[in-house]
Amino acid sequence: MTLEDLERRTVAAVAAATGTAALDEVEASALGKRGELTRAHRDLGQLEPEERRTAGKVLHELRLRLEAAVAARRAELDAVERRATLAAERLDLTEVGEVAGPIRAGHLHLVTQTQRELEDVFVGMGFTVAEGPEAETDWYNFEALNMPPAHPARGMWDTFYLELGEPETVLLRAHTSPVQIHLLEQGQRPVHAVMPGRCYRRDTPDARHLAVFHQIEGLVVDRGITFGDLAGTIETFTNAYFGADIHSRLRPAYFPFTEPSAEFEITCTICRGEGCRTCSGTGWIELGGCGMVDPAVFDAVGVDAAVWSGFAFGFGIDRCAQMRHGIADLRALVENDVRFLGQF
Ligand code: DAH
Repeated sequence: MTLEDLERRTVAAVAAATGTAALDEVEASALGKRGELTRAHRDLGQLEPEERRTAGKVLHELRLRLEAAVAARRAELDAVERRATLAAERLDLTEVGEVAGPIRAGHLHLVTQTQRELEDVFVGMGFTVAEGPEAETDWYNFEALNMPPAHPARGMWDTFYLELGEPETVLLRAHTSPVQIHLLEQGQRPVHAVMPGRCYRRDTPDARHLAVFHQIEGLVVDRGITFGDLAGTIETFTNAYFGADIHSRLRPAYFPFTEPSAEFEITCTICRGEGCRTCSGTGWIELGGCGMVDPAVFDAVGVDAAVWSGFAFGFGIDRCAQMRHGIADLRALVENDVRFLGQF
């Protein structure tokens, strides 16, 4: 076979290759180790040096032309095959409707639903709704809430600090209580507000705790507010949200920003007060903390404690959802399994 024949045949075969696999074969048989061109190269050994040089140059130029033809065809075939793969892997979403019935719309996450229901209950009781930032300075999260630096009560909150400014000065709020400070600082008087939002603690998640969770804070500052107003507000809320057979009780506790302070508990929603494993047989479940605003907090934000008095409370929104719906493990709320979330 002459070199002209070899070139003509190879160029035709390259053009006729309909896929990259076929092109690989053409390339191997013409240009590969055992290919015809290589064999022709090997045969050069039999020629005289002068002839060998001329023929070698011709062979080399032929190889370059054929390699270029193969590369050009490969680029075309690659593009065709890529388009075919894309078309084959395209998701035909119209099929889902035909196979699985109409596409179901999603809905708000249980925690969002719960937050909105809680807001509705408090709005019905005459409260407004306010929000504050999730990143706070030490002053809002601790100091203005009557916890000066090194105050032992700071240990009640395992705090995430941000690498911003001086070490341990900027943090992710560990509770919603700092929003009380923002409202009072803005000069609102009287205040009847609830403040829902996300909080962060360096806690190991378990059935009853998440490191990122939600609280709702309440603050009432007005003239002549008493502990009786606090107890009545908590009981009214408990009946409205959990049902008329669920009651509240206050037990002495300590929080730096309230004096006196109390823990508030509600009838166990699992056993309705009979006593069960969830409530350790007591018939009561702790929901949050509350108390009369400490005069030191009023001092920090310039509220005249001789004129104004108030109460505050704070409790977990996720915990409310857990108790109302009997969710055994709080972590299910953040695992995003639609089989779980779709139930609510
Ligand atoms: N901030 C407290 C906590 O996260 C809960 C709390 C207790 C809020 C007493 C209050 C309060 O407003 O008066 O543990």
